[in-house]
Amino acid sequence: MTVDGPDQLEKLKEIGAICRDVLAAMGARVAPGVTPLELDVMAGEMLAERGATSAPKLAYDFPGFTCISVGDAVAHGIPDDTPLREGDLVNIDVSAEKDGFFADTGSSFAVGKISPDLQKLLDATKAAQRKAMFAARAGQPINVIAKAVEREAAKHGFKIVEGLNGHGVGAWIHEEPSVSNIYHPSDRQKLQEGQVLTIEPFLATQSDQYVEDADGWTLRLDKGGFGAQFEHTFVVTKGMPIVLTA
Ligand code: CO
Ligand code: CO
Repeated sequence: MTVDGPDQLEKLKEIGAICRDVLAAMGARVAPGVTPLELDVMAGEMLAERGATSAPKLAYDFPGFTCISVGDAVAHGIPDDTPLREGDLVNIDVSAEKDGFFADTGSSFAVGKISPDLQKLLDATKAAQRKAMFAARAGQPINVIAKAVEREAAKHGFKIVEGLNGHGVGAWIHEEPSVSNIYHPSDRQKLQEGQVLTIEPFLATQSDQYVEDADGWTLRLDKGGFGAQFEHTFVVTKGMPIVLTA
C-alpha cells in the first residue's frame, strides 16, 4: 500500500511495533533445548494480548502463529517440538494484522554458540538488509535494493537464495511489488514516496535455490548448508526510511 495521511501511518506503526516486540521476545528465548513450538505459543499469546492476528494464519491458514525455520530450512517452517540444538541457526518470521493493517519482520538467531562462519553469515545478511533499506529512496529504481544486497553478499562470498523476495505490505500481508534480492537491469520500476515495503534478503553458505518439503510449507536449501534472513517493514520517503518494525 501507499500511506495516505498520518492516521494510516499511526496504525502501521502500531502493528509494526507489535511484530517487533513479539520477534524480540521470541529471539530472547532462543537457546539449546527450547522448542519452536514453545516460542510460537508465546507469540500467539502476545499477539492476542495486543489485539493482533497472525498474518500467516489469517491469509494462508498456516499451521502456526509464526514461521520458525531451523538449520537448512530457510523460510515458512512449521513450529514443532524438536528442541533447538547448540550451534544451529533458527529463523523466526513474525507478521501480523491489527485493524486491517499488516507488518512483517524476521531475524535469524544463533542457537547457543555458533561457528565464526555462521556468525559472519548472520552479520552479512543483517548488513545487506540495512544497506538495501537505506538505499531505497523515493524516485530511485527498485533494483537499488538488489544491487545493495548483491554487493554485500559478494563481499563476504555468500549466495543469494533466488525466488525469496521482499514485497509490498500494509493493507495485506503480500502485496505488489515483489522486491527482488537479485539485480535485474530490465526492472524499471521506481520506488514511490509513501510506499510500504519489506526488504528481506536470504543469504546462504552453499545453496542459491530452495525446495519445498513434503509438508507443503517448509522451504529448504537445495544443496544444504545454512541460510539466514533479516526482514523489516518500512515506508519509502525521499530521505531516510521510516522503519516500522525496528
Ligand atoms: Co516475513
Ligand atoms: Co515478508
